[in-house]
Amino acid sequence: MSIASDDLKKSIPVSKMTNRSNTWRSSKRSLHNIVSLDDFEEPARRYIPRPIFGYIKSGSGRGDSSRGNRAAYESLAFMPSTLVDTSTRNQQTKVFGRAYDSPFGVSPMGGTSIGAYQGDIAVARSVAAANIPMILSGASFITLERVKQAGPTAWFQAYIPGDDAVIARLVERVTRAGYETMVVTLDVTVPAKLDFSLRSGFRKPFHPTPRFIWDVLIRPRWLCGMFLRTLLTHGMPHVENMEPRTPVISRSGDRPISGLDQLSWANIDTLRRLWKGNLVLKGVLNKNDVKTAREAGVDGIIVSNHGGRQLDGAVAPLRVLPGIVAEAGDMTIMLDSGVRRGTDVLKALALGAKLVFAGRPFIYAAAVGGEAGVRHAIGILRDEIDRDMALLGITSLDQMTRDRLVPADKFDGLEF
Ligand code: FNR
Repeated sequence: MSIASDDLKKSIPVSKMTNRSNTWRSSKRSLHNIVSLDDFEEPARRYIPRPIFGYIKSGSGRGDSSRGNRAAYESLAFMPSTLVDTSTRNQQTKVFGRAYDSPFGVSPMGGTSIGAYQGDIAVARSVAAANIPMILSGASFITLERVKQAGPTAWFQAYIPGDDAVIARLVERVTRAGYETMVVTLDVTVPAKLDFSLRSGFRKPFHPTPRFIWDVLIRPRWLCGMFLRTLLTHGMPHVENMEPRTPVISRSGDRPISGLDQLSWANIDTLRRLWKGNLVLKGVLNKNDVKTAREAGVDGIIVSNHGGRQLDGAVAPLRVLPGIVAEAGDMTIMLDSGVRRGTDVLKALALGAKLVFAGRPFIYAAAVGGEAGVRHAIGILRDEIDRDMALLGITSLDQMTRDRLVPADKFDGLEF
């Protein structure tokens, strides 16, 4: 029996889960019907008010990057081996000296606790139980201290302005909370134009317009089970881990995080000096930046185009991954954007990623089923990786090498 199969036994059966916050919201049968990460989207759409769902789903602009992310996975095909004894499969990976039971984690997402009741806590608990990481967003509505207590495998993601005093305060707080890994997101110099989100009526902070109120009223399960419950139990949600601390509802309109467009390598040098833990840069696509990061003492890179939510038309991370790995030296290279299947994870690993992250499906999973939903999502991806390893003819992830991939669309009978 492989390690992966043992873990699956622990994490998949929804019938064993007792989290009270989920049971009234999602029947066991509704999770049972969800067989892939993509399947979480439709029930989430029916649960979350239109503007908020639009914000989560949206890519930027025309969605060229979002489509490009999927196209990159589809452009690669596998070359499996046969007659290999794969009965003992192990999908463990080691990152920054720590073993994780699967090579994936949950990307940082600011809206997690607005889509789902205490969503960041649900994710933190579920990933800790599965021994995989999550990255708490700096724009989250739950304090970084609570999330680390709920799930010790959490990393913290920071949006830092080009202001060393703010950086010093944040480092002190993140260190005190016990985080070992800090991720700094670099691809949000300004908020992107999320066309689908805007068309859905989303504004940040929420404007209580008549249209918005109507959209919320026709989602009574979210209104009662997420919003009113949050108000009654925890008060008005605020952005908790970033200065200034702003409420989720306000009449004053969008206040973009100030100073992000001033961030420069000099600030990363300051951060490197102050932060003693693992330092990861997220949102890097250009291999020239990787060289600079290496020289600045950075420990890891998450190759990402923000799930196609920042520069529309930005290249798919998978396509630039090999070039980035070639420049990485001792840095750990990770990736997100568009990961939905076990096969996606394995393709990224074959091109040199050590760990990959998935975003949107985990908000949807938390919205649809709370902690049980997130555990179900983890189980699905873990199960797919386990089966795919057997079908590929490998027993551990270090065997997932580049020669197991071929171009999907240019096969002309030649051997690769
Ligand atoms: C994000 N993302 C993001 N990234 C980040 O570094 N900090 C953040 O606060 C957020 N917030 C956020 C909110 C929402 C609603 C989404 C969907 C995404 C980007 C995220 O970390 C990740 O890069 C992408 O979501 C990965 O792509 P997929 O898996 O969603 O396609």
